[in-house]
Amino acid sequence: MIAQKDSTRALRDLTHILKLAYSGEQAAAFAYRGHWRSLRREDERVAIRKIEDEEWHHRRQIAVMLAELGERPSKLREARTWVIGRSLGLLCHLSGWLIPMYGAGKLESRNVREYESAARFAWHGGRREWVDCLLTMAEVEWDHERYFRERVLSHSLGARLPLWAPPPPRERIRSSFEQDTGVVSSEAFQTV
Ligand SMILES: [Fe+2]
Ligand SMILES: [Fe+2]
Repeated sequence: MIAQKDSTRALRDLTHILKLAYSGEQAAAFAYRGHWRSLRREDERVAIRKIEDEEWHHRRQIAVMLAELGERPSKLREARTWVIGRSLGLLCHLSGWLIPMYGAGKLESRNVREYESAARFAWHGGRREWVDCLLTMAEVEWDHERYFRERVLSHSLGARLPLWAPPPPRERIRSSFEQDTGVVSSEAFQTV
């Protein structure tokens, strides 16, 4: 009975995270669209355009999961994140080079933890087939954080700013999951 209760709670927590993440990915993708368009250097434009694409990809993957859970994203949150993403995208054209790079890196470090939590809730909630996908999303967010951290550190002022706490090494995403759950993720799950 207790296990069933835990599983139900995990599924509820997973649904909550997925709904937030679905809309959050929209805000991020629109903000990155404005960001890469505001940049002059071709390598930065290409890199951040790729990050935008990866955020849209995450959103599509989450949409599949929410549909399977019989859930819909919040319309209000969708409207809000549309406005936030578009506004941030526009602001990138006015705020200079460093601020959007810094803000993006800080937000990305939070995204890593969010998908790591989602993977654990999926595991405990009986949606084990989603674990690999969610851990991969955490790894992609880790790559995003690394990219923005390096860009900030390449800037003379950015290198002197206090930075957000770095996430643990990338390989810890899977090893800590395996430690917490006692499984080997690469063997046990399929991707969505
Ligand atoms: Fe993402
Ligand atoms: Fe990201």
